[in-house]
Amino acid sequence: MKVFITGGAGYIGSHTALELLRSGHEICVYDNFSNATPEALARVKRLANKDFVQVSGDIRAQDDLVGAMQAFQPDAVIHFAGVKAVGESHADPLKYYDNNVLGSLRLLQAMDQVGCQQIVFSSSATVYGTVHYLPYDEKHPLNPTNPYGQSKLMVERIIQDWCAAKPQASAVLLRYFNPAGAHESGDIGEDPSGVPNNLVPFATQVAVGRRPALQVFGNDYDTADGTGERDYIHVTDLALAHSAGLDFASRHQGCEVFNIGTGQPYSVMQIIQALEQVSGKPIPYALAPRRAGDIARFYAGVEKAKALLNWQAERDIVAICDSAWQWQAQNPQGYSA
Ligand code: NAD
Ligand code: UFG
Repeated sequence: MKVFITGGAGYIGSHTALELLRSGHEICVYDNFSNATPEALARVKRLANKDFVQVSGDIRAQDDLVGAMQAFQPDAVIHFAGVKAVGESHADPLKYYDNNVLGSLRLLQAMDQVGCQQIVFSSSATVYGTVHYLPYDEKHPLNPTNPYGQSKLMVERIIQDWCAAKPQASAVLLRYFNPAGAHESGDIGEDPSGVPNNLVPFATQVAVGRRPALQVFGNDYDTADGTGERDYIHVTDLALAHSAGLDFASRHQGCEVFNIGTGQPYSVMQIIQALEQVSGKPIPYALAPRRAGDIARFYAGVEKAKALLNWQAERDIVAICDSAWQWQAQNPQGYSA
């Protein structure tokens, strides 16, 4: 299959690009490198031992996008490109609506122009917002509590309407829980710019000595050890969920939404302990107040993905922490070194 990957140089995109190349797909990565480096793609090429098309461009630049798609003639699109920091989305909401919503609109218009009718979209569990019951299944009410989550929900709805208007179109919306970890080689991984927002990259930067200590945001939640619990999904399992999504889209018309997680929550303290074990390094931490907007625990209902995508997570929390550590230890400064 010929797969056009927006944002394919980023964290999840690069791991997905690698898995698609390995399973014999032809790919074109389209990325503006606003949060990624060409080095990630050079490493994907080396690991896959296969070349692929790379285009530097923005999804909002209609002519560039249509030009790249016309040249490549994709059978399907995987759409990762976007911005993703919850805190920043409160401070600069228009950036999120512009990049994520307008960008996705431009992408669907470009797909119409070149006659491509299959899309797999990176949504987020953040579209659920306030918890009514756990685990979140795909029928859980949607109530995102930040502009980032609102932008993801808007795009889901735009894609649903786009799909409903086209009898041949198919769309797979993947609501990721907490992506973490790295490729088993340790050659590609998550390389946040500036201070990491997320637990695992922050903690591995502490373990490698780039930062003095981790702050644990709250230990008075209603959870087993009082710290926040999340459903961490290994980035390679997540990449494979995209392959399963492409396969599903090629066999079904219409729009389907799937949770992508493990169904198993882990606390902040459990992550710290697992990382200390795999790295053999201490991870100093200090207790800090709860982070605004955080909830105590959330995790995925994963039955629908198992039943319809024939996909489930295979890698556990030790594999997540071990691979995250291998990547950090081999690349203490990320790709920039
Ligand atoms: P990332 O920032 O590493 O990857 C996004 C990529 O898109 C980057 O390479 C960036 O340069 C590119 N990009 C951004 N805006 C663009 C534009 N206008 N045109 C072209 N390229 C553009 O992020 P990631 O963690 O790999 O996330 C990928 C997708 O998954 C995002 O849509 C994100 O919202 C979603 N998601 C991520 C998480 C997570 O925790 N990482 C959780 C849920 C959903
Ligand atoms: N945490 C700390 N210290 C840190 C960072 C995080 O204690 O330095 C805690 C948080 O309070 C939370 C847990 O670690 O309890 C996980 O936090 P992350 O920031 O890693 O992940 P979130 O669950 O807050 O957010 C992630 C993505 C969002 C997405 C959301 C729902 O980053 O983009 O999952 O899918 F919206």
